[in-house]
Amino acid sequence: MNQTLSIVGLQKTFERGQALEKQVLKQVSLTLAPGEFISVIGSNGAGKSTLINCIAGAVTADNGTIRLDGEDITKKRTDLRAKDVARVFQDPKLGTAGHLSVEENLAIADRRGQKNRFKRGVHGSDLARFREKLAVLDLGLESRLHAPADTLSGGQRQALTLIMATMQRPKLLLLDEHTAALDPKASMMVMQLTEQLVREMKQTTMMITHNMENAIRYGDRLIMLHDGEIVIDVRGEAKKRLTVAELVDRFRHATGDAVVSDRQVLSGEALAAM
Ligand SMILES: Nc1ncnc2c1ncn2[C@@H]1O[C@H](COP(=O)(O)OP(=O)(O)O)[C@@H](O)[C@H]1O
Ligand SMILES: [Mg+2]
Repeated sequence: MNQTLSIVGLQKTFERGQALEKQVLKQVSLTLAPGEFISVIGSNGAGKSTLINCIAGAVTADNGTIRLDGEDITKKRTDLRAKDVARVFQDPKLGTAGHLSVEENLAIADRRGQKNRFKRGVHGSDLARFREKLAVLDLGLESRLHAPADTLSGGQRQALTLIMATMQRPKLLLLDEHTAALDPKASMMVMQLTEQLVREMKQTTMMITHNMENAIRYGDRLIMLHDGEIVIDVRGEAKKRLTVAELVDRFRHATGDAVVSDRQVLSGEALAAM
């Protein structure tokens, strides 16, 4: 069976040959089955964003191959991957054009991969479709189609970004701490929306998160990157049974204690469990 994503022996070193040389990815191999939803945790600087950047094409790996639905995309131009690989970042401002209205943003996302995607203007038939998509969110956005995106709250804007990112059914959705800049309530709302979209669309998804509870609660599988390597990989029933305390324990074993002192990886609950 074709895997949706197949990464073999991925390596990346920054500042090669210089004092600050850092091997950020060391032989990372990973496959994702169609529809699989994986959460990725790891301390600051573990290589999580670099991994996602290699898949999206923003960073070129030194060695290794990346296949998407069987196609070798390791060296494929970033703009040519954009239709297949959608990304959502931490900053809600990055996923939407603030001066354009909600409907104009949706129209651009709807035309992803087409030559005229940035042409302004929205057709009446599209509007009804957009309104329907937004109504499902229950955020009242369907009545704010003409509002500029920068008048939305961070949570609303990130919800809109998610809708836009999945509109053209990308082969792979990459989320890089997409709720980290939101307040707890908005963060929870966006996480729930993520889960809903991913499940409804059977969207193959890789989600980086700083929040261990979310990493455990959401997704079919959890991996932990440490120092450029996958040190934990749990799925299925074993993942469902996982607790934050156990995860911290496995951190300790896998990393020789290095990570547990990194408070940024650990939520309050995790620290309390230690
Ligand atoms: N473009 C770059 N040039 C040099 N160093 C980089 C670059 N991108 C990331 N790094 C370094 O690589 C390491 C891993 O970064 P990153 O993948 O962003 O980690 P994470 O997302 O897990 O916090 C860090 O030490 C970071 O400073
Ligand atoms: Mg990062």
